[in-house]
Amino acid sequence: MTTLPTRTLGPFTVSAVGLGAMPLSMGANVRPDREQAVATVHAALDAGVTFIDTADCYAPSWDAMGHNEQLVAEALASYGDTSHVTVATKGGITRSEGEVWGRDGSPEYLRRAVESSLRNLRVDVLDLYQWHRPDRWRLYPEVVGTFKALQEEGKIRAVGISNANVEEIDVALEVLGEGGLASVQNQFSPSFRSSRDELEHCGRHGVAFLPWSPLGGTGAGSRDVGLTYPVFHEIGSARGVSPQQVVLAWELSLGVHVVPIPGASRPASISDSAQAASLVLTDDELARIEGQFC
Ligand SMILES: NC(=O)c1ccc[n+]([C@@H]2O[C@H](COP(=O)([O-])OP(=O)(O)OC[C@H]3O[C@@H](n4cnc5c(N)ncnc54)[C@H](OP(=O)(O)O)[C@@H]3O)[C@@H](O)[C@H]2O)c1
Repeated sequence: MTTLPTRTLGPFTVSAVGLGAMPLSMGANVRPDREQAVATVHAALDAGVTFIDTADCYAPSWDAMGHNEQLVAEALASYGDTSHVTVATKGGITRSEGEVWGRDGSPEYLRRAVESSLRNLRVDVLDLYQWHRPDRWRLYPEVVGTFKALQEEGKIRAVGISNANVEEIDVALEVLGEGGLASVQNQFSPSFRSSRDELEHCGRHGVAFLPWSPLGGTGAGSRDVGLTYPVFHEIGSARGVSPQQVVLAWELSLGVHVVPIPGASRPASISDSAQAASLVLTDDELARIEGQFC
Protein backbone atom coordinates (compact mmCIF):
# COMPACT_ATOMS: atom_id res chain seq x y z
CA MET A 1 0.00 0.00 0.00
CA THR A 2 1.26 3.46 -0.93
CA THR A 3 1.44 6.33 1.54
CA LEU A 4 0.31 9.73 0.27
CA PRO A 5 0.98 13.21 1.65
CA THR A 6 -1.73 14.12 4.16
CA ARG A 7 -3.85 17.11 5.11
CA THR A 8 -5.87 18.04 8.19
CA LEU A 9 -9.65 17.79 8.03
CA GLY A 10 -11.14 18.71 11.41
CA PRO A 11 -10.01 16.00 13.85
CA PHE A 12 -8.81 13.75 11.00
CA THR A 13 -5.57 13.39 9.06
CA VAL A 14 -6.50 12.34 5.53
CA SER A 15 -4.75 11.76 2.21
CA ALA A 16 -4.43 15.04 0.30
CA VAL A 17 -6.62 13.54 -2.44
CA GLY A 18 -9.80 11.68 -1.53
CA LEU A 19 -12.19 9.47 -3.47
CA GLY A 20 -15.58 10.80 -4.54
CA ALA A 21 -17.74 7.68 -4.55
CA MET A 22 -20.76 9.12 -6.37
CA PRO A 23 -19.94 7.68 -9.87
CA LEU A 24 -20.13 4.19 -8.37
CA SER A 25 -23.88 4.66 -7.99
CA MET A 26 -24.81 7.41 -10.44
CA GLY A 27 -23.36 9.84 -12.95
CA ALA A 28 -22.95 10.50 -16.66
CA ASN A 29 -20.90 7.36 -17.26
CA VAL A 30 -22.24 3.80 -17.30
CA ARG A 31 -22.73 2.67 -13.70
CA PRO A 32 -20.16 0.02 -12.83
CA ASP A 33 -21.26 -3.39 -11.63
CA ARG A 34 -20.69 -4.24 -7.96
CA GLU A 35 -17.40 -6.01 -8.64
CA GLN A 36 -15.94 -3.01 -10.47
CA ALA A 37 -17.31 -0.63 -7.85
CA VAL A 38 -15.63 -2.54 -5.03
CA ALA A 39 -12.42 -2.82 -7.10
CA THR A 40 -12.45 0.97 -7.57
CA VAL A 41 -12.62 1.59 -3.82
CA HIS A 42 -9.89 -1.00 -3.28
CA ALA A 43 -7.72 0.69 -5.93
CA ALA A 44 -8.14 3.97 -4.06
CA LEU A 45 -7.03 2.32 -0.81
CA ASP A 46 -4.10 0.61 -2.57
CA ALA A 47 -3.07 4.02 -3.93
CA GLY A 48 -2.97 5.47 -0.41
CA VAL A 49 -6.34 7.26 -0.38
CA THR A 50 -7.64 7.44 3.20
CA PHE A 51 -10.65 9.70 2.66
CA ILE A 52 -13.89 8.68 0.93
CA ASP A 53 -16.86 10.94 0.26
CA THR A 54 -20.35 9.50 -0.12
CA ALA A 55 -23.96 10.63 0.51
CA ASP A 56 -27.24 8.95 1.33
CA CYS A 57 -28.83 10.18 -1.92
CA TYR A 58 -26.13 8.74 -4.21
CA ALA A 59 -28.21 5.94 -5.64
CA PRO A 60 -29.34 4.72 -9.06
CA SER A 61 -32.99 5.44 -8.22
CA TRP A 62 -35.14 7.17 -5.62
CA ASP A 63 -36.05 3.90 -3.92
CA ALA A 64 -32.43 2.85 -3.46
CA MET A 65 -31.27 5.62 -1.10
CA GLY A 66 -28.15 4.49 0.74
CA HIS A 67 -26.87 2.52 -2.27
CA ASN A 68 -23.51 4.31 -2.36
CA GLU A 69 -23.01 4.21 1.41
CA GLN A 70 -23.67 0.46 1.37
CA LEU A 71 -21.19 -0.03 -1.47
CA VAL A 72 -18.49 1.88 0.39
CA ALA A 73 -19.16 -0.16 3.55
CA GLU A 74 -18.99 -3.42 1.57
CA ALA A 75 -15.73 -2.41 -0.09
CA LEU A 76 -14.14 -1.37 3.20
CA ALA A 77 -15.28 -4.56 4.95
CA SER A 78 -13.71 -6.74 2.27
CA TYR A 79 -10.38 -4.88 2.20
CA GLY A 80 -8.77 -5.68 5.54
CA ASP A 81 -7.78 -3.09 8.10
CA THR A 82 -9.37 0.23 7.17
CA SER A 83 -9.31 1.82 10.63
CA HIS A 84 -7.11 4.60 9.17
CA VAL A 85 -9.80 5.57 6.60
CA THR A 86 -12.15 8.52 7.16
CA VAL A 87 -15.59 8.27 5.56
CA ALA A 88 -17.67 11.38 4.99
CA THR A 89 -21.34 11.22 4.18
CA LYS A 90 -24.11 13.77 3.71
CA GLY A 91 -27.78 14.23 4.45
CA GLY A 92 -30.51 16.74 3.78
CA ILE A 93 -31.44 15.89 0.17
CA THR A 94 -34.60 13.85 -0.33
CA ARG A 95 -35.67 11.67 -3.24
CA SER A 96 -39.20 10.38 -3.64
CA GLU A 97 -41.44 8.53 -6.07
CA GLY A 98 -41.24 9.79 -9.62
CA GLU A 99 -37.61 10.88 -9.05
CA VAL A 100 -38.67 14.07 -7.28
CA TRP A 101 -35.67 15.65 -5.56
CA GLY A 102 -36.12 17.88 -2.52
CA ARG A 103 -34.48 19.18 0.64
CA ASP A 104 -35.34 18.57 4.26
CA GLY A 105 -33.42 20.21 7.08
CA SER A 106 -35.92 19.40 9.82
CA PRO A 107 -34.50 17.80 12.99
CA GLU A 108 -36.87 14.84 12.59
CA TYR A 109 -35.71 14.11 9.04
CA LEU A 110 -32.00 14.59 9.77
CA ARG A 111 -32.18 12.30 12.81
CA ARG A 112 -33.76 9.57 10.70
CA ALA A 113 -31.20 10.17 7.95
CA VAL A 114 -28.29 9.82 10.40
CA GLU A 115 -29.68 6.52 11.71
CA SER A 116 -29.95 5.21 8.12
CA SER A 117 -26.41 6.31 7.28
CA LEU A 118 -25.08 4.63 10.44
CA ARG A 119 -26.76 1.38 9.36
CA ASN A 120 -25.63 1.69 5.73
CA LEU A 121 -22.04 2.41 6.67
CA ARG A 122 -22.08 -0.25 9.43
CA VAL A 123 -20.68 2.09 12.08
CA ASP A 124 -21.71 3.39 15.52
CA VAL A 125 -20.63 6.94 14.77
CA LEU A 126 -20.27 8.82 11.46
CA ASP A 127 -16.80 10.31 10.91
CA LEU A 128 -17.87 13.44 9.04
CA TYR A 129 -21.53 14.31 8.50
CA GLN A 130 -22.17 17.08 5.99
CA TRP A 131 -25.31 19.09 5.39
CA HIS A 132 -25.68 18.40 1.67
CA ARG A 133 -27.62 21.46 0.47
CA PRO A 134 -29.44 24.29 2.23
CA ASP A 135 -33.18 23.87 2.83
CA ARG A 136 -34.40 27.39 2.05
CA TRP A 137 -37.53 26.81 4.14
CA ARG A 138 -35.36 26.57 7.28
CA LEU A 139 -33.18 29.05 9.09
CA TYR A 140 -29.51 28.20 8.47
CA PRO A 141 -28.40 28.46 12.14
CA GLU A 142 -31.22 26.16 13.26
CA VAL A 143 -30.20 23.38 10.89
CA VAL A 144 -26.53 23.72 11.83
CA GLY A 145 -27.76 23.54 15.44
CA THR A 146 -29.26 20.13 14.71
CA PHE A 147 -25.89 18.93 13.41
CA LYS A 148 -24.26 20.27 16.58
CA ALA A 149 -26.79 18.38 18.73
CA LEU A 150 -26.11 15.16 16.79
CA GLN A 151 -22.41 15.65 17.42
CA GLU A 152 -22.96 16.26 21.14
CA GLU A 153 -25.05 13.08 21.28
CA GLY A 154 -22.11 11.13 19.82
CA LYS A 155 -23.77 10.22 16.52
CA ILE A 156 -21.21 12.12 14.43
CA ARG A 157 -17.56 12.96 15.04
CA ALA A 158 -17.27 16.07 12.90
CA VAL A 159 -19.62 18.47 11.11
CA GLY A 160 -19.32 19.73 7.56
CA ILE A 161 -21.49 21.84 5.28
CA SER A 162 -21.80 21.79 1.51
CA ASN A 163 -22.90 24.22 -1.18
CA ALA A 164 -22.48 27.10 1.25
CA ASN A 165 -21.63 30.74 0.61
CA VAL A 166 -19.37 32.93 2.75
CA GLU A 167 -22.27 34.19 4.89
CA GLU A 168 -23.45 30.64 5.55
CA ILE A 169 -19.92 29.54 6.43
CA ASP A 170 -19.79 32.39 8.96
CA VAL A 171 -23.12 31.30 10.47
CA ALA A 172 -21.85 27.73 10.79
CA LEU A 173 -18.62 28.95 12.40
CA GLU A 174 -20.63 30.93 14.92
CA VAL A 175 -23.10 28.15 15.78
CA LEU A 176 -20.45 25.43 16.01
CA GLY A 177 -17.87 27.57 17.83
CA GLU A 178 -14.11 27.76 17.39
CA GLY A 179 -12.81 24.68 15.58
CA GLY A 180 -16.32 23.25 15.29
CA LEU A 181 -16.71 23.39 11.52
CA ALA A 182 -14.51 20.70 9.98
CA SER A 183 -15.13 21.24 6.27
CA VAL A 184 -16.95 23.00 3.47
CA GLN A 185 -17.64 21.00 0.30
CA ASN A 186 -18.35 23.21 -2.72
CA GLN A 187 -18.12 22.83 -6.47
CA PHE A 188 -14.71 23.97 -7.70
CA SER A 189 -12.79 23.10 -10.87
CA PRO A 190 -11.15 24.84 -13.84
CA SER A 191 -14.63 25.38 -15.31
CA PHE A 192 -16.25 26.39 -12.00
CA ARG A 193 -14.10 28.85 -10.10
CA SER A 194 -16.77 31.10 -8.60
CA SER A 195 -16.40 29.44 -5.18
CA ARG A 196 -12.84 30.70 -4.84
CA ASP A 197 -13.99 33.26 -2.25
CA GLU A 198 -15.33 30.40 -0.12
CA LEU A 199 -12.12 28.41 -0.69
CA GLU A 200 -10.03 31.33 0.59
CA HIS A 201 -12.44 32.09 3.45
CA CYS A 202 -12.07 28.50 4.66
CA GLY A 203 -8.29 28.85 4.56
CA ARG A 204 -8.43 31.90 6.82
CA HIS A 205 -10.54 29.98 9.36
CA GLY A 206 -8.69 26.66 9.36
CA VAL A 207 -11.62 24.86 7.75
CA ALA A 208 -10.92 22.16 5.15
CA PHE A 209 -12.26 22.95 1.67
CA LEU A 210 -13.34 19.93 -0.39
CA PRO A 211 -13.74 20.80 -4.09
CA TRP A 212 -16.56 18.68 -5.56
CA SER A 213 -16.52 17.75 -9.23
CA PRO A 214 -12.87 18.92 -9.09
CA LEU A 215 -12.20 17.74 -12.65
CA GLY A 216 -15.36 19.23 -14.14
CA GLY A 217 -17.82 16.43 -13.40
CA THR A 218 -18.52 12.97 -14.74
CA GLY A 219 -18.53 12.55 -18.52
CA ALA A 220 -16.93 15.00 -20.92
CA GLY A 221 -16.12 17.63 -18.27
CA SER A 222 -13.47 15.49 -16.62
CA ARG A 223 -12.47 13.46 -19.68
CA ASP A 224 -11.77 16.52 -21.85
CA VAL A 225 -10.34 18.89 -19.25
CA GLY A 226 -6.97 18.86 -21.05
CA LEU A 227 -8.66 19.77 -24.35
CA THR A 228 -10.80 22.51 -22.86
CA TYR A 229 -7.84 23.92 -20.94
CA PRO A 230 -4.72 23.00 -23.01
CA VAL A 231 -2.31 24.25 -20.34
CA PHE A 232 -3.18 21.24 -18.16
CA HIS A 233 -2.39 18.95 -21.10
CA GLU A 234 0.85 20.79 -21.92
CA ILE A 235 2.14 20.68 -18.34
CA GLY A 236 1.03 17.07 -18.00
CA SER A 237 2.85 16.06 -21.20
CA ALA A 238 6.03 17.77 -20.07
CA ARG A 239 5.87 16.11 -16.64
CA GLY A 240 4.71 12.71 -17.90
CA VAL A 241 1.40 12.82 -16.01
CA SER A 242 -2.25 13.15 -16.98
CA PRO A 243 -3.95 16.56 -17.34
CA GLN A 244 -6.31 15.42 -14.57
CA GLN A 245 -3.37 15.08 -12.18
CA VAL A 246 -2.24 18.60 -13.07
CA VAL A 247 -5.74 19.97 -12.37
CA LEU A 248 -5.78 18.33 -8.93
CA ALA A 249 -2.21 19.49 -8.16
CA TRP A 250 -3.24 23.07 -9.04
CA GLU A 251 -6.21 22.82 -6.65
CA LEU A 252 -3.93 21.46 -3.92
CA SER A 253 -1.60 24.43 -4.47
CA LEU A 254 -4.41 26.84 -3.52
CA GLY A 255 -4.05 26.10 0.19
CA VAL A 256 -3.02 23.41 2.65
CA HIS A 257 -6.68 23.15 3.64
CA VAL A 258 -7.80 21.98 0.17
CA VAL A 259 -8.67 18.27 -0.24
CA PRO A 260 -10.09 17.46 -3.71
CA ILE A 261 -12.39 14.44 -3.96
CA PRO A 262 -12.19 13.28 -7.60
CA GLY A 263 -14.89 10.78 -8.52
CA ALA A 264 -14.17 7.47 -10.20
CA SER A 265 -16.06 4.48 -11.51
CA ARG A 266 -12.90 2.70 -12.70
CA PRO A 267 -9.82 1.67 -10.68
CA ALA A 268 -7.50 3.30 -13.24
CA SER A 269 -9.02 6.77 -12.73
CA ILE A 270 -8.52 6.92 -8.97
CA SER A 271 -5.11 5.24 -9.14
CA ASP A 272 -4.04 8.05 -11.46
CA SER A 273 -5.77 10.88 -9.58
CA ALA A 274 -4.30 9.81 -6.23
CA GLN A 275 -0.81 10.47 -7.56
CA ALA A 276 -1.64 14.17 -7.79
CA ALA A 277 -1.17 14.30 -4.01
CA SER A 278 2.59 14.05 -4.62
CA LEU A 279 2.75 16.30 -7.69
CA VAL A 280 4.19 19.71 -6.82
CA LEU A 281 3.85 22.29 -9.58
CA THR A 282 6.50 24.97 -10.08
CA ASP A 283 5.75 28.68 -9.68
CA ASP A 284 6.06 29.02 -13.45
CA GLU A 285 3.54 26.23 -14.08
CA LEU A 286 1.11 27.72 -11.57
CA ALA A 287 1.45 31.15 -13.18
CA ARG A 288 0.68 29.64 -16.59
CA ILE A 289 -2.43 27.93 -15.16
CA GLU A 290 -3.68 31.10 -13.47
CA GLY A 291 -2.82 33.09 -16.59
CA GLN A 292 -5.24 31.12 -18.74
CA PHE A 293 -8.14 32.22 -16.53
CA CYS A 294 -7.43 35.95 -16.98
N1 LIG B 1 -21.72 18.16 -2.36
C1 LIG B 1 -22.30 18.09 -3.53
O1 LIG B 1 -23.35 18.70 -3.78
C2 LIG B 1 -21.68 17.23 -4.59
C3 LIG B 1 -22.15 17.28 -5.91
C4 LIG B 1 -21.52 16.49 -6.87
C5 LIG B 1 -20.44 15.68 -6.50
N2 LIG B 1 -20.03 15.63 -5.20
C6 LIG B 1 -18.89 14.78 -4.77
O2 LIG B 1 -17.75 15.12 -5.53
C7 LIG B 1 -17.18 13.94 -6.08
C8 LIG B 1 -16.47 14.24 -7.38
O3 LIG B 1 -17.33 14.86 -8.30
P1 LIG B 1 -17.79 14.13 -9.66
O4 LIG B 1 -17.60 12.68 -9.51
O5 LIG B 1 -19.12 14.68 -9.98
O6 LIG B 1 -16.83 14.77 -10.76
P2 LIG B 1 -15.25 14.77 -11.03
O7 LIG B 1 -14.52 14.27 -9.87
O8 LIG B 1 -14.93 16.11 -11.54
O9 LIG B 1 -15.16 13.76 -12.24
C9 LIG B 1 -15.37 12.40 -12.05
C10 LIG B 1 -15.02 11.66 -13.30
O10 LIG B 1 -13.68 11.92 -13.61
C11 LIG B 1 -13.10 10.78 -14.17
N3 LIG B 1 -11.70 10.74 -13.69
C12 LIG B 1 -11.30 10.80 -12.39
N4 LIG B 1 -9.97 10.78 -12.31
C13 LIG B 1 -9.52 10.69 -13.59
C14 LIG B 1 -8.22 10.62 -14.17
N5 LIG B 1 -7.14 10.66 -13.40
N6 LIG B 1 -8.14 10.55 -15.51
C15 LIG B 1 -9.25 10.52 -16.30
N7 LIG B 1 -10.50 10.58 -15.79
C16 LIG B 1 -10.63 10.66 -14.45
C17 LIG B 1 -13.86 9.58 -13.67
O11 LIG B 1 -14.00 8.68 -14.75
P3 LIG B 1 -14.45 7.17 -14.59
O12 LIG B 1 -15.90 7.24 -14.17
O13 LIG B 1 -14.27 6.61 -15.97
O14 LIG B 1 -13.61 6.53 -13.54
C18 LIG B 1 -15.16 10.18 -13.14
O15 LIG B 1 -16.29 9.75 -13.88
C19 LIG B 1 -18.39 13.02 -6.26
O16 LIG B 1 -18.01 11.70 -6.42
C20 LIG B 1 -19.12 13.29 -4.97
O17 LIG B 1 -18.52 12.54 -3.92
C21 LIG B 1 -20.63 16.41 -4.26
